[in-house]
Amino acid sequence: MKIALFSTKSFDRRFFERANREETHEVHFLESRLSAETVDLARGYPCVCVFVNDIVDAEVIRRLEEGGTRFIALRCAGFNNVDLRALRESGLRLVHVPAYSPHAVAEHAVALILGLNRHLPWAYNRVRDGNFSLSGLEGFDLHGKTVGVIGTGRIGATFAGIMRHGFGCRVVAHDPFPSERLRASGVEFVALERLFAESDIVSLHCPLTPETDHLIDASALERMKRGVMIVNTSRGRVIDTPAVIEGLKSGRVGSLAIDVYEQEGDLFFEDLSDRVIQDDVFERLLTFPNVLVTGHQGFFTEEALTAIAEETLDNVSCLESGETCEKEIIPERVMAG
Ligand code: NAI
Repeated sequence: MKIALFSTKSFDRRFFERANREETHEVHFLESRLSAETVDLARGYPCVCVFVNDIVDAEVIRRLEEGGTRFIALRCAGFNNVDLRALRESGLRLVHVPAYSPHAVAEHAVALILGLNRHLPWAYNRVRDGNFSLSGLEGFDLHGKTVGVIGTGRIGATFAGIMRHGFGCRVVAHDPFPSERLRASGVEFVALERLFAESDIVSLHCPLTPETDHLIDASALERMKRGVMIVNTSRGRVIDTPAVIEGLKSGRVGSLAIDVYEQEGDLFFEDLSDRVIQDDVFERLLTFPNVLVTGHQGFFTEEALTAIAEETLDNVSCLESGETCEKEIIPERVMAG
């Protein structure tokens, strides 16, 4: 099938070419991000392949359909960038890659915690400058601390296991569907209030939904332990960034590590090093000595990229064959909760 692969980076090309070595599909690599401005590039392609920051809103869906597109293949797990209501009204079908490597993202969350707690980026720069002072580099033992995990699906469960068994943390978790397997392994499922009140570290692993949109706002921060560490590898909008900036200024938030950001679509995955960044909220975040930001790289491992490319192309083959595809997102089902 002819596929227009939007937002192509060099790594997409490498992994998709490898996954498509039998040339089952005809993949055309486009650097543009899919949006109302670029949707005409998809004309005549029965399938488009998109990533986290491509915009699949009502207008894009309508124009994709007009241009002859029938399938949208997300090469990621989250689908918050797709207007499901508009999709339901259209004849388009949507697939995603729900479980390519929970380890990739869970391990990145752990890397963020360790890097932030032991101030590794700052320590590294100091040593390179010949500055061996330890002042300001003090961290805390993870062993014995309480880690609150919000969302215990594939990634959250993997993360909970590492924190519990790898570091000897107490893990409390919140999820509308608590996992018995995790409970049996010693994870305590609690109400959000208790998780906020008891956690030294709060790590977000829930999808972005109307319920989790700005879940971490000023009121949530007030209910957390003073000095809490917040880690977000899920979706940027789960955190109300200006509220967290206020929390960092007052000391209510002890430290913050994020791999995702509310307005990341205008920044992440691009080299903007010769430009003036216009996002003042993002720039304010970078001024704190206790904030660590990475640019949505949780998924970025050899294993995850291989699985993403292979499963995306398998999903397209499945749609093309007319069979029921288990990775299809049925809007009615998702919207019914
Ligand atoms: P999953 O679907 O396996 O798990 C999500 C869990 O969140 C489910 O157990 C669900 O019941 C729970 N949940 C839903 N609403 C909730 C709420 N209101 N409060 C608490 N829990 C809630 O998803 P998976 O694979 O674990 O991914 C989690 C999220 O991580 C994705 O939705 C995506 O946004 C993000 N992600 C980030 C990546 C990165 O590179 N930083 C890469 C892949 C995913």
